[in-house]
Amino acid sequence: MKPRVWITGPVAEAALPGLRELADVTMRPAPEKALPDEMLAGVPGLAGLLPVNGARVDAEVLDTAGPSLRIVANFGVGYDNVDVGAATARRIPVTNTPDVLVESTADVAFGLLIAAARRFGEGQSAAREDRWQWAQGLMWGQEVSGATLGILGLGRIGSAVARRGRAFGMRVLYHSRSRKPEAEFALPCEYRSLEDMLAEVDFLSLHVALKPETRHILNGPALARMKRTAIVVNTGRGGLVDQAALLAAVRDGRIAGAGLDVTDPEPPSPDDPILHAPGIYVTPHIGSASVGARTAMTRVAAENLTAVLRGRRPPNCVNPEVLG
Ligand code: DGY
Repeated sequence: MKPRVWITGPVAEAALPGLRELADVTMRPAPEKALPDEMLAGVPGLAGLLPVNGARVDAEVLDTAGPSLRIVANFGVGYDNVDVGAATARRIPVTNTPDVLVESTADVAFGLLIAAARRFGEGQSAAREDRWQWAQGLMWGQEVSGATLGILGLGRIGSAVARRGRAFGMRVLYHSRSRKPEAEFALPCEYRSLEDMLAEVDFLSLHVALKPETRHILNGPALARMKRTAIVVNTGRGGLVDQAALLAAVRDGRIAGAGLDVTDPEPPSPDDPILHAPGIYVTPHIGSASVGARTAMTRVAAENLTAVLRGRRPPNCVNPEVLG
């Protein structure tokens, strides 16, 4: 009998033939995130679990899956939806899909930056609603070229956004856990303390992982350090930002706006003010939603699953200590 694998949402079928040969693969057809009850119902007896759309994998899910579970192959570079500690305690490898979504996510970050700076949303509404006017003084936005860009978290995606900034003639500042002398020379970019960077930048793009210590890293006091003309871009995780504080800062004109591909919670309820505030542009977590990136993410998740099911080391294990 083939080992059973469950994929909790639709992924690119074109990247699955190898896995399907090896395993009995079931794919949940609903595009929304699987709810906790569905997760508990879906996991018993699985050998491999491929959570999609941030489906939560906690100790209860792992225990309900039982001792047959050999891998949690998360879809995405972020894995804050998986209780890695609980998986490690049960000696279950957790894998992610890094690298292949870097450029796609950086494109969305930079797109949101320009959209928020140049008020694309208001422009499109005006054009559609018969308010087209070429008028001096209308819809002035912030200049992107030559402005100062701050990158919080100069990892792979942060660096890709920084490169785009350099191509726009921007001066790039960064703050990371550790200094990156090579990037400082090559991009170039300059290191700042978080406080100093916040005060200096025209645009701030967030790229740190969501952990207890980074939750609400952009809170009221942090926002208060920023320029009135500054714009915040978040393609990381909604929980990095204190959303109520961000909303108040934009509403009160203490910063100019925001472009958010992630919110807290996700999805936001339709009447969440974050979706309706002038100056705040929200897209529904589409950072990696290009044909190339999503297909490659499926391929990488399938490679991780296949490796473990064949008794090999998975290429992208985030808790390698379980592999011995
Ligand atoms: C990731 O890879 O973590 C993305 O947020 C999922 O699209």
